[in-house]
Amino acid sequence: MLRDNGPMCSYCGCENIEVIGRFMGEHVDLVNAAGVLRRAIGAADPAAVRAAATALAELLTPHTVAEEAGLFTVMARDEEFSDHIERLCSEHEDLDAALAGIADGAWERYPAFERALRDHIDREDNGLFPAAAIAFAGPEWDEVHDLTPPPAAVAGQPS
Ligand SMILES: [Fe+2]
Repeated sequence: MLRDNGPMCSYCGCENIEVIGRFMGEHVDLVNAAGVLRRAIGAADPAAVRAAATALAELLTPHTVAEEAGLFTVMARDEEFSDHIERLCSEHEDLDAALAGIADGAWERYPAFERALRDHIDREDNGLFPAAAIAFAGPEWDEVHDLTPPPAAVAGQPS
């Protein structure tokens, strides 16, 4: 099974776990929003670049906050995953900083940003998420679910 941006982890079934499916779907949205930003930079249109960078940040920040609040918090308790989680969290900060720089006019940072975004997503979709699907049973998923803010709430639109 292929989606537009590459192979998804259909072999282990982790996409079927609600929060993992949500995060994988948000990754697709992030890559699509990055494409809008790339095209705005290619068109050398400062207003479009600012709008696209803002739109991407409005997807990226709630997404990484949600990942860290639930899944990462519960996984990091296991020594086997704690170093990897720490690295993914620092990548979240680097991505935020790079995107803020691009929004402020450092367009030359875009290619490295997109590579870092895609590599980061790949490490989650094809590394961390399948590992969680194997390591966690029902109680852990319940806890992850309880700790994870819903998409509307993190977007600042309480339901
Ligand atoms: Fe993610």
